[in-house]
Amino acid sequence: MAPLNFHNKVAVVTGAGGGLGRGYALLLGSRGAKVVVNDLGGDTKGEGKSSRAADAVVEEIRSAGGTAVANYDSVEDGENIIQTALENFGHIDILVNNAGILRDRSLPRTSNTDWDLVHRVHLRGSFLVTRAAFPVMKKQGFGRIIMTTSTAGIFGNFGQANYSAAKLGLLGLSNTVAIEGRKYNINCNTVAPFGGTRMTEDIMPPDMLEELKPEFVAPVVSWLCHEDCHDTGGLYVTGGGWVSKFRWENTTGVMCRESRVSAMTPETVRDNWDKICDFTNSENLESNEETTGSILEVLNNLKDTPGTELHHTHSPASTS
Ligand code: NAI
Repeated sequence: MAPLNFHNKVAVVTGAGGGLGRGYALLLGSRGAKVVVNDLGGDTKGEGKSSRAADAVVEEIRSAGGTAVANYDSVEDGENIIQTALENFGHIDILVNNAGILRDRSLPRTSNTDWDLVHRVHLRGSFLVTRAAFPVMKKQGFGRIIMTTSTAGIFGNFGQANYSAAKLGLLGLSNTVAIEGRKYNINCNTVAPFGGTRMTEDIMPPDMLEELKPEFVAPVVSWLCHEDCHDTGGLYVTGGGWVSKFRWENTTGVMCRESRVSAMTPETVRDNWDKICDFTNSENLESNEETTGSILEVLNNLKDTPGTELHHTHSPASTS
């Protein structure tokens, strides 16, 4: 099969002045995309500002024969970032929401500022850049958007209440953008990367950082951004060359009312707890509609009165 290229595609990568974003920008640029390298140039806590980081990556792309321009706005100025793409290249096809900061503290020590700054950069920033790009993508009938979450968001992580909340918020945002974008050929997927970057250099030994180079994540982002990739609304965990798709899983569930006229009590829930939590024969409901449909189906099958015959697809609670 032919190598993948991004000729005639314009890509915006936020936070591309270093780390993973730089890796994404370099790969997309080397495969023919015209790249807007956005970076505010601050430190990992979101303090400071400099044009150096973005300029250096633009220079790397150009000296390898690619096309790139820098943008130094914060992702909180999403309109300006997309404007840079439109002014320089006329359109925007690919948006990788990657910029991020950390302000780790245990929950009681998390200040309002720690909470707000992390949310402003990750969640509000990704929303603002995406909202600015979406109408352009909609008009042209093509778009590829990436949101960046974290396993800290998926599972939680000590000292990262602010970060994990914002990061899981990004998965929700991504899922809705995927739904709203579907009929316009705008795909939106989420990645949870592991990368050896300045964000992780304090918590990993040097040889591990080397094994987790951004080069081992960037191909996943590139594929998801390619026009041949039609997946949308997916979540991928990736690092060191390993790539895995994640999804929600639910137990088959238990109807805790015996009939339409039966009361539901905390005791019925307690008595069925093992069954409620039993993942044997688990399901993977994939949408609001499927989940609501599943509940409605069980309700439909609920007996009118206790003791009459049952036609359940989901087992009813045994009342005790
Ligand atoms: P990094 O600190 O090397 O890169 C983040 C970049 O975003 C920096 O260049 C920074 O200047 C830029 N940035 C920060 N605030 C900005 C703003 N308001 N506007 C524009 N640019 C801004 O970090 P790394 O590791 O490359 O992280 C990239 C993304 O991946 C982040 O969203 C991070 O949360 C996420 N992530 C990284 C993991 C890892 O293992 N490195 C793990 C899970 C998620």
